[in-house]
Amino acid sequence: MVRIGLLGCGNVGRIIAAHQDGFTVEALFDRLPDHAEELARICGAPAFSDFQEFISQDFDICVEAASVLAVREYAPKILENGKNILILSVGALSDSYFRKALLDMARKSGKKIHIPSGAIMGLDNLKVGQISRIDSVLLRTTKSPESLGMNVTTRTLAFRGKANECIKQFPKNINVSVALALAASHDVDVELWADPEVDRNIHDIHALGEFGEVNIRIVNQPCPDNPATSYLAALSVLSLLKNLDNPLVIGS
Ligand SMILES: NC(=O)c1ccc[n+]([C@@H]2O[C@H](COP(=O)([O-])OP(=O)(O)OC[C@H]3O[C@@H](n4cnc5c(N)ncnc54)[C@H](O)[C@@H]3O)[C@@H](O)[C@H]2O)c1
Repeated sequence: MVRIGLLGCGNVGRIIAAHQDGFTVEALFDRLPDHAEELARICGAPAFSDFQEFISQDFDICVEAASVLAVREYAPKILENGKNILILSVGALSDSYFRKALLDMARKSGKKIHIPSGAIMGLDNLKVGQISRIDSVLLRTTKSPESLGMNVTTRTLAFRGKANECIKQFPKNINVSVALALAASHDVDVELWADPEVDRNIHDIHALGEFGEVNIRIVNQPCPDNPATSYLAALSVLSLLKNLDNPLVIGS
């Protein structure tokens, strides 16, 4: 049974703590102690207010569901302490210096950095971009203005450009673009739209390459407790954890 430590006890963390299927939660940490304590009551694992105490507990993989800044601060320490890491705030890896340093640390310590599919589908086979030509990847994301911190009454383009620039402006909203870029090993063009008519996050992915062409539309069901977070993101972490020990590995 995989044992996890949970870094970040918000919306996604709460779903992970409540669904220990194929893994157990051994320790909890959040910069807001009451968030970790609330999850301790749900799952029975101890809450820590000191990061070093948390990371010294006996678990195999630290699951990050906190923020891009938390990844910057804690991911190196997690690897240094001999733990694997699952990073949901994958936007942190858009900084190539940070990413390379983290990958070097993982290689040296023999540990893995897992990136879940998060709020989208299709990451698995986009990895063909690592071995064959990709011509273009476009992500067109549509969200409600409130979830982007905007106040507009008509469909409005909030950003157009590359994924690594978009994540700087919207660190909470466009992690999936960085996951796509890492999977495909190719720049991702992003259009981020604020639309007062939508009540769900919508991701349209279009990719073209030697393999052919693909169009995927993902319409996300919001988390029960917070409409800003896509339920699929939490489910993708749960299914990744459940399959870590599975001898049958599906998808590229
Ligand atoms: N890859 C994806 O597709 C995807 C999808 C959804 C969410 N996310 C990301 O996952 C993360 C968690 O999402 P959520 O909806 O649960 O967010 P949330 O705001 O509900 O919860 C985040 C929790 O982490 C804690 N936290 C934040 N910064 C911290 C730090 N530096 N140290 C310790 N604790 C810290 C907060 O106090 C909070 O309890 C966010 O960064 C979000 O952008 C990624």
